[in-house]
Amino acid sequence: MWRFIHVSDPHLGSQSDEQLNNVMICSLMPEVIGCLRRDLEALEPDFLLVTGDLAHESTRDAMFAARDLMDSLDLPYYPTGGEYDFASPEAREWFLEVFSSRLPGAETYYSFTHKNLHVCVLDPWWRWPDGALCPFRCTTGEECGWVVPPHQFDWLKADLDAHRASPTVLAMHHPVTPTPERLQRNGCRQPGHVENGDLLLETLAAFPQVKAVFSGHVHMNYIVQHEGLIHVASSAMAEYPVEYREVVVADDHLEIRTLGLSEALFATQSLIEGNEWVAGEEQDRAIRIDF
Ligand SMILES: [Fe+2]
Repeated sequence: MWRFIHVSDPHLGSQSDEQLNNVMICSLMPEVIGCLRRDLEALEPDFLLVTGDLAHESTRDAMFAARDLMDSLDLPYYPTGGEYDFASPEAREWFLEVFSSRLPGAETYYSFTHKNLHVCVLDPWWRWPDGALCPFRCTTGEECGWVVPPHQFDWLKADLDAHRASPTVLAMHHPVTPTPERLQRNGCRQPGHVENGDLLLETLAAFPQVKAVFSGHVHMNYIVQHEGLIHVASSAMAEYPVEYREVVVADDHLEIRTLGLSEALFATQSLIEGNEWVAGEEQDRAIRIDF
C-alpha cells in the first residue's frame, strides 16, 4: 500500500482575504503550508495531487510565490491549473515555466503512472458569452462557463485506450457533475461544474478502468457516485474546514479519508458561523473504491 494526498485551492501568493462561503485566509497560507508540511511528515505520502487555484492572482509573481510555497512542502507534487491560475492570456506559459520540474511534459493536461495507479489531468477552458472557447477569462468581465476542450477529449481517449489495464483516476479543477442538492444551501456560493460534464461522463463510460474523479473549485467537500464513477470534490486549503484528502492505494482498491490540520486555529479563523456545512456530511468524507 502507498498513499497520495489530494489538496485543492490553496490560493497562494496573496494577502487578500476574500470571502466565498467562509473567509479565504490567503494571508495566512504560508503558516498553513508550514503546518501541512509538519503534519504530512507522519503520513509520508508519495506525492500531492493539487487540483487548481494554486495562485490567488493570475500573475507571474503569484505563480512563483505559489511554487515556492508548494516546494517548501519538500514532497513531489502534480499541479493542475484552476480558473484563478489561468485567468490571463499568458498564464499557461507562466504555469509551464514555473512548474516545469513537476510536470511530466510541456502541456497543462497530462498523465502519469505511479506504481499501480494511472492519473490523467485535464485543463478546462472558458466558454465566453458569445459561445467561443478560449483558454483565458472573458476580458469584458461577463460571466463565463468552463468546458473541457475537444483536443483534450481526443488526447484523453488515446491515453485511456493505452492504459486500459491500469486503475485510473482523473483530476481537474472543476467538478464534472453539479454540487449535490443536499449541499446547495440558502446563500451557498458554489461556482459550478464543467458545462460538458455529460459528454465527459459518456466518454469515461467506455473506460471502466477510470474509478474516480478528483476536483476542487467548489470550496466544499462532497463525494457522489454517478453511474459507477466516484466524484470527489475537495474543499479549499485556504478556506474552512482547511482540510485535505488522504488517499491510500492498495492493489485492488483505494481508500479516501478527510483530514484537518493539527493546528485548528486556521479553520476557526476562516469559519463564518452557520457555514460549517462546506465540510460535507459523513458520506462526503470517506469512501473505499474497489478497482
Ligand atoms: Fe478556488
